[in-house]
Amino acid sequence: MAGLPEDALTAPAASTSVIPWPEAEPPTYLRICPLPASQSWKDLHMTRGPVPMPVARAQAGAVAAGFEHSCSDGTGWLLHTLAASLHDDAVIGESGTGYGVGSAWLLSGSAGSRLVTVELDEGRARSAGELLDREFGDRACVLHDNWTALSDHAPFALLFCDGGGKVQNPQAVIDLVAPGGWLVLDDFTPSSNWPPLFHGQLDETRWAYLSSPLLTSTSVEVSPTESALVAVRRLL
Ligand SMILES: C[S@@+](CC[C@H](N)C(=O)[O-])C[C@H]1O[C@@H](n2cnc3c(N)ncnc32)[C@H](O)[C@@H]1O
Repeated sequence: MAGLPEDALTAPAASTSVIPWPEAEPPTYLRICPLPASQSWKDLHMTRGPVPMPVARAQAGAVAAGFEHSCSDGTGWLLHTLAASLHDDAVIGESGTGYGVGSAWLLSGSAGSRLVTVELDEGRARSAGELLDREFGDRACVLHDNWTALSDHAPFALLFCDGGGKVQNPQAVIDLVAPGGWLVLDDFTPSSNWPPLFHGQLDETRWAYLSSPLLTSTSVEVSPTESALVAVRRLL
């Protein structure tokens, strides 16, 4: 360690400019988005400040309907960031619309891409369709159908597979992604093992994607308790 100043390896003193949390004001969306009774706002993992307003409105709709399976903010920021890489003529796909939270993250991240999202549940499809129409007009198309209906709109420059297909048919999911396109799957448990384990066993779903010769992929921890799989469909 010769040459380093004596204090080089010690942690810096806590900055006095950091506002203590949770005394700090909660971000805007927490005020308009009532949480399920089981959840405190302190439980939320803050990855990056307040969420975009279309996302906040979709989250409020999901919470009002008692739907607890919307994507997390960690995954949302990931989707939002990847969507920002897309050109206006790109088409994004989503399997499993829910109440439109993931869709709102994707569309608010991209400048002009269109999204086709499919949802099996009629009420969710209608609710998300109304919200996304208000927020994004004809950039969003919500189908009330089985996930396989996405094949009529493929290949996708970015596919968020969050409903049907993810577990049942990884090969058919991969086939929906354009060469050079992104594939995102969320809601995995972080694992320090290779191959990844879930409850002590090989995580077959994750492994099907991580080991596919058609993909180059990695796991990204979007919060301490959730990892997402991000892949690119190889050009060759
Ligand atoms: C995890 S939630 C989706 C959340 C949404 N992507 C978001 O980020 O807010 C999964 C959704 O997939 C839908 N789903 C389940 N099986 C499906 C299928 N075979 N085809 C289309 N949607 C399906 C469920 O009804 C549910 O609304």
